[in-house]
Amino acid sequence: MPDITAVTHAQNIRYDRKAEALYIIDQTLLPGEEKEIRLQTIDEMVEAIRALRVRGAPAIGICAAYCMYVLAKSIRTEDRPTFLKRLSDYGQQLDAARPTAVNLGWAIREMMRTALEHVHDTRGQMLDALYERAVVIHEDDIAKCRAISEYGLSLLKEGDGVLTHCNAGPLATSRYGTAQGPFLLAAERGMHIRVFADETRPLLQGARLTSYELQRAGVDVTLICDNMASIVMKNGWVQACFVGCDRVAANGDTANKIGTSGVAILAKHYGIPVYVLGPTSTIDMACPDGDHIPIEERDGEEIKTMWYEKPMALPEVKCYNPAFDVTDHELIAGIVTEKGICRPPYTKSLKALFDDKK
Ligand code: MRU
Repeated sequence: MPDITAVTHAQNIRYDRKAEALYIIDQTLLPGEEKEIRLQTIDEMVEAIRALRVRGAPAIGICAAYCMYVLAKSIRTEDRPTFLKRLSDYGQQLDAARPTAVNLGWAIREMMRTALEHVHDTRGQMLDALYERAVVIHEDDIAKCRAISEYGLSLLKEGDGVLTHCNAGPLATSRYGTAQGPFLLAAERGMHIRVFADETRPLLQGARLTSYELQRAGVDVTLICDNMASIVMKNGWVQACFVGCDRVAANGDTANKIGTSGVAILAKHYGIPVYVLGPTSTIDMACPDGDHIPIEERDGEEIKTMWYEKPMALPEVKCYNPAFDVTDHELIAGIVTEKGICRPPYTKSLKALFDDKK
């Protein structure tokens, strides 16, 4: 029996106030094992983000916010400049764990700003304020994902087929997700959407996480290898592509999981619209275009050995393993945020999101 709520409300990041402990679901073990691990030290936190135990742009932002609270509690000095310096050093270490997703640095800056605002309060008051800020970041994301899911679903009709790449579901966010949120919302409402999930090489977020979440929620999901997207589009099975984002530049150029730009180029060939779904916290107005987005490069061993008992290539073979690529804004039909759907020209429509103070 599909259990939609168990999927939409999965507690991928959980701060237990009674136990004073931060837990995440270790996403590297999925789908075989759903296991929580506790994050206590800066080294454990940086490792968890770098190894993708917690992953997805909004989720690493939320996790980093709780990490900053846990780390703030561990700083024992009563001297405020020393406290702020140590917290800021921790923030820099967390931020350096992964360079592309803008949410990480954004959440860390929010936490530092809160610490500064309470610099003259007692230690207890400052810690309370930091905890509350982390909770607000988490709860805001829940509300944003829900709104994004509604806007995304408004682009679809009964029976549509949608191709998605990587994982932008509840595990990558708070609840519902961004690019996968509309599919879960549709399932809740008894609407039939056929999803084609790219497996997403090299780390298989599509196979391990997206098809896991959607299958459990009762969504009609078909897993394909990345190189099968073209035939699925040619067959007429896909009416739209929905993808998440790690950083959207001011002109609409969008960094997302490696392979996303290839999907968008194929979609253009077949006349299929590509929508990017993400919260406004993923939009970096200080970044003018895709050329300015830092792209994480990961260890080539992930290509050669990560997903199979035996090596997939000779150990001495060179690998190039960028974790993200940038989709040109001209290939994007709309950017779906919690505030609505932005259309080209994005220099205007994205700017309007931030001018609007409502
Ligand atoms: O390397 P990952 O797994 O963190 O990459 C995740 C993605 O590319 C997602 O599509 C993106 O972060 C959006 S998640 C809502």
